[in-house]
Amino acid sequence: MAKMYVSQGVHHVVATPHFINGTAWANSAKIVMQSVQKMQAVLNKNRINLIIHPGMEIACSFRVPDFFAQGVLLPLGGKGNMFLLEPAFHGTQEELVASVHFMLRNNRVPIIAHPERISYFQSNPDDLLALINQGARIQLTMDSLLAPPQSRRHQLALRLVQTRQVHFLASDAHSSAGREPPGESVWCRLEELIGKECVQRLCVDNPHTLLMF
Ligand SMILES: [Fe+2]
Repeated sequence: MAKMYVSQGVHHVVATPHFINGTAWANSAKIVMQSVQKMQAVLNKNRINLIIHPGMEIACSFRVPDFFAQGVLLPLGGKGNMFLLEPAFHGTQEELVASVHFMLRNNRVPIIAHPERISYFQSNPDDLLALINQGARIQLTMDSLLAPPQSRRHQLALRLVQTRQVHFLASDAHSSAGREPPGESVWCRLEELIGKECVQRLCVDNPHTLLMF
């Protein structure tokens, strides 16, 4: 995966393993930081020019305030106050709304992961816009923009980009075979669809700003 990123001119990646309480995917901030350091050492040893920044995709939950109190959550980039929050795929999003409001009240910036994939927001986009107006930020998955034009996730993703409501565009890369890092054809199709300047803003400029804090 690292070599695939570098081949496309990508030299910084924020790794966002899941934090889903009560499952095997609930590594603490400390474990993620240690794992990233080990991974970086391997990349450096092999002279692969890629920097891995730590992060976490936090499943929203009424217990998010407890997890913050326990110090187990990690902001994107490992420091700063921006945290990636994953909505539930089903239901009416009470836990997401509660998590967003808690974070905003406590001077943290919630970034909502792939809301375009959530059927509730596909049917109720105004509820998503309300969260954005309150201070939440939006991260889309590239694949949603490249999905069939008639699909609901594509339509919501494109509408959010066109109305400049999106802050980040994520690869959703999971492995070197299947959900792999974006190759040349993906970058070209994205630029055709939303424009080169927009891809630059969502994949380079905004993430760069985030990592500076
Ligand atoms: Fe996710």
